[in-house]
Amino acid sequence: MARRWCTRIKLIKVILMVVIFSVACINLRSYITIQRNIQATEEVIIAAATEVDTPVPNKKGFLTIAIPTVSRKGAVYIYSTLGSLINKLTVGDNPEITIVILLADTNQIYNEELAINITNEYKELVTRKVIHFVKIPPRYYPDFNNLKITFNDSLKRVQWRSKQNLDYAYVMTYAANLSQYYMQLEDDVIATERYLTKIKDFIDQHSDKRWVMLDFTNMGFIGKLYHSRDVVKLATVLKTFYNEKPCDFLMLDFLTMMLQTKRYLRVPKLFKHLGMHSSLPSNKRKEDKDPFFEKTNALKGDNPPADLFTSLQTYFPHTLSKVYDGKYADSFFWSKSPKSGESVVIAFKQQQRLGRIVIITGFQNSKRDRLKNGTLESGTIVHRTKLDHITCSETRILGVFEGGIIDVNITNSYPVACVVIKITDAQSDWILFRYVAIFIKSR
Ligand SMILES: *[C@@H]1O[C@H](CO)[C@@H](O)[C@H](O)[C@H]1NC(C)=O
Ligand SMILES: *[C@@H]1O[C@H](CO)[C@@H](O)[C@H](O)[C@H]1NC(C)=O
Ligand SMILES: *[C@@H]1O[C@H](CO)[C@@H](O)[C@H](O)[C@H]1NC(C)=O
Ligand SMILES: *[C@@H]1O[C@H](CO)[C@@H](O)[C@H](O)[C@H]1NC(C)=O
Ligand SMILES: *[C@@H]1O[C@H](CO)[C@@H](O)[C@H](O)[C@H]1NC(C)=O
Repeated sequence: MARRWCTRIKLIKVILMVVIFSVACINLRSYITIQRNIQATEEVIIAAATEVDTPVPNKKGFLTIAIPTVSRKGAVYIYSTLGSLINKLTVGDNPEITIVILLADTNQIYNEELAINITNEYKELVTRKVIHFVKIPPRYYPDFNNLKITFNDSLKRVQWRSKQNLDYAYVMTYAANLSQYYMQLEDDVIATERYLTKIKDFIDQHSDKRWVMLDFTNMGFIGKLYHSRDVVKLATVLKTFYNEKPCDFLMLDFLTMMLQTKRYLRVPKLFKHLGMHSSLPSNKRKEDKDPFFEKTNALKGDNPPADLFTSLQTYFPHTLSKVYDGKYADSFFWSKSPKSGESVVIAFKQQQRLGRIVIITGFQNSKRDRLKNGTLESGTIVHRTKLDHITCSETRILGVFEGGIIDVNITNSYPVACVVIKITDAQSDWILFRYVAIFIKSR
């Protein structure tokens, strides 16, 4: 009896061993598969990175612009994006810029077609490797049906933003070393005139700061500029946490980790959305209303040092000082709908003899956002209250706005302490102050 039991127990033991062993085997097999997949993924990235001609150090370009592109319902904008990037470069800029287009659609036929169309349009630039195309092998991606839900997003949204993170990581790894700086755009934005010069100016203005990222738009991941040396790090963050957070959150985490505590936003922005169709199907976005401007230097006033005050509600960040200080050639002041009696006060630090004042409001090519009813006055008494409220009194009228513009030559000039723009009637249009130019009387 005892022996028979013993044999049975042995048998059970053997069966158990076999079961345990085969389970381990299966696990091991899936472990190996995962390892292989990871290895493959890394190989893909490395392969992509080495596909690039190793740049001769002193021939390294100035800026790489990467544009991930996918098909959108309703429209293809990338031709306009490229057009604006390429046409708006002043002569001589071309070799400094490399454009890397990531063909990120899941439909390979669409990708092929797009690459062919772009090549047809910019044959020379493609040949000269000013324009690169990058394609992602499907095995780079994980199983998008096995993602965890975070931020209570829909599965569809989690899938979309996870793929986006992986796409960005991929193109960054590919493009990191092509130029001195790296910037990413989307396939539905357009650039302002002479954007490259403006980027260089902004970099120069911040040469004394230890920045990791400069902002050339206030939108998500668009127009953020990095040093090449940091781009692979950022790619690693995106790739590691692709499932956890959307890319604009990871971008902020990255900034924190890199110890950048301030943001350096270039105003006005250099890129704006063209499309109403997001790359997330079913997402429609509001029209991007921000204008771009090119101003003429002829209307750059002396604008002597002054304290500024306005009761008008500012559409941030287009503040009054932006247009008065005129630090950037294309800054403006944008206020929301004014009430009657509101004003803009410019209180000079020292009394001034004025020669001419030009103020131009409204969009460049339309009647939108002009000041309809207003006067311009100069005064000799400035009164400052504790709340930074400034008034200008003992005034006399210099002129009234017509068609949103005032341009007065001041004869019989005596020293004045302040200038005030008075809004004499409420209007539903906002007011966009494009130029505020005050010229001092020449002796
Ligand atoms: C990037 O380029 C520099 C020279 O321009 C080279 O020394 C470096 O090894 C490159 N890095 C990678 C990751 O390719
Ligand atoms: C490529 O160009 C052809 C011919 O102009 C056009 O029919 C097609 O829609 C374009 N494809 C894409 C992806 O833009
Ligand atoms: C998550 O989303 C669902 C459906 O959109 C909603 O009913 C639920 O309250 C949300 N939960 C949290 C914690 O926000
Ligand atoms: C404001 O201007 C419009 C025309 O520009 C004029 O018809 C209207 O009377 C003005 N309102 C005031 C209060 O001056
Ligand atoms: C004011 O003077 C400038 C230069 O002297 C001239 O170009 C401009 O037309 C004048 N404006 C008016 C309104 O007289």
